[in-house]
Amino acid sequence: MNNFTFWSPTCFVFGKDTETQAGALVKRFGGSRVLIHFGGGSALRSGLIDRVEASLKAEGLACFRLGGVKPNPRSGLVYEGIELCRKEKIDFILAVGGGSSIDSAKAIAAGAIYDGDFWDFYSGKRIEQALPVGTVLTIAAAGSEGSPDSVITKEEGMFKRGASGDAIRPKFSVLNPALTQTLPPHQTAAGITDIMAHLYERYLTNTPEVEVTDRLIEALLLTMIHEGPRVIADPDNYEARANIMWAGMMAHNNSCGVGRSQDWNSHNIEHELSALYDCAHGAGLAVTMPAVFTYVMDHDVMRFAQAAVRVWGCQMDFAHPEVTAREGIEKLRSFLVSIGMPRNFEELGAREEDVPALVQALCRGDGREGSISGFVTLNEEDCEKIYRLML
Ligand code: NZQ
Ligand code: ZN
Repeated sequence: MNNFTFWSPTCFVFGKDTETQAGALVKRFGGSRVLIHFGGGSALRSGLIDRVEASLKAEGLACFRLGGVKPNPRSGLVYEGIELCRKEKIDFILAVGGGSSIDSAKAIAAGAIYDGDFWDFYSGKRIEQALPVGTVLTIAAAGSEGSPDSVITKEEGMFKRGASGDAIRPKFSVLNPALTQTLPPHQTAAGITDIMAHLYERYLTNTPEVEVTDRLIEALLLTMIHEGPRVIADPDNYEARANIMWAGMMAHNNSCGVGRSQDWNSHNIEHELSALYDCAHGAGLAVTMPAVFTYVMDHDVMRFAQAAVRVWGCQMDFAHPEVTAREGIEKLRSFLVSIGMPRNFEELGAREEDVPALVQALCRGDGREGSISGFVTLNEEDCEKIYRLML
């Protein structure tokens, strides 16, 4: 196991009606002038924004609203939010929504107290300081409620890139599984896929002897395999939603990723798809993961075979571990299709003729130098072959 420091100070408040505690939580973490940042309308329509605002006002806090965050959030609204924070002397940002609203809030939080262009953080500069952020989560998916990450798309060039820093870990996150019951089935399934991807991206490691995190990841994957179909069949199943919501947080706050190298090639390859086609990130991952895993399998066939046996219940073929490994990847693909995810470019709404542009943006866009690296290093030719495996 590698050396590591794990610092995850977020206060999680989990369960029914917990959003009524938002005001008390903002106060506890020092906020007095609060920007409520949210998406395209679901939280307005459900009355959640009004309930949250009432809880802030009951604590005597000044409230400002900025809605309109799009899935795959854009830089334009981040600039607007930064200006608003400076003008109104905002000292706390409360994101109400999914990963997109939370990531946009984190970008605003970092940009509001930075002299340069906030995009510097999305071009490799680490975020050292930010306004405090809290979240009220409405979809189990991205794990941004417990992560030090934010992903934003720069409208100029449509580059989708991530930024990181412990300063943007939320001070608190309110997780009420009942809030996710209004999700359309496609979004629920995309969320399940993203959670599984966060687990696989950590499972694909080059660090030996990482039994504890291997086993944690396997337990969470087994939970998703059990609870995913239950929630798709019965969207009002609170207990299934609760298990998925907590699994989503654990999958990405890095408790399962410490002390080991991680992959993230599937995420990087997918980000170009959601940047170009504006598809749900999870839907893009459903098409990306089996292609990437098939392509890189030979790098460590026993790792894939181990997942196949422990997670997917395959029989180990000791003479031909690659058969077991491939079987596990096929079981993953079938599972994702069974919950309603796309299986190829066509079902995702992607086009073969865009492959060269996808490879270019992935390997050369916004300062990259011809490759991406994770479990294995992939050059332009590899990435082209991987996109073609998705056809
Ligand atoms: O905008 P509204 O109207 O709220 O609608 C949203 C949106 O259309 C809707 N929705 C959310 N909660 C709902 C709901 N509809 C009905 N009822 C509810 N309770 O669902 C749609 C998707 O929302 P979004 O916030 O985009 O989903 P998600 O949480 O999957 O976030 C995706 C973004 O997170 C990034 C992705 O790349 C993508 O941009 N990621 C962020 C990470 C991080 N910060 O750590 C890691 C991830 O790997 C990921 O890359
Ligand atoms: Zn993800």
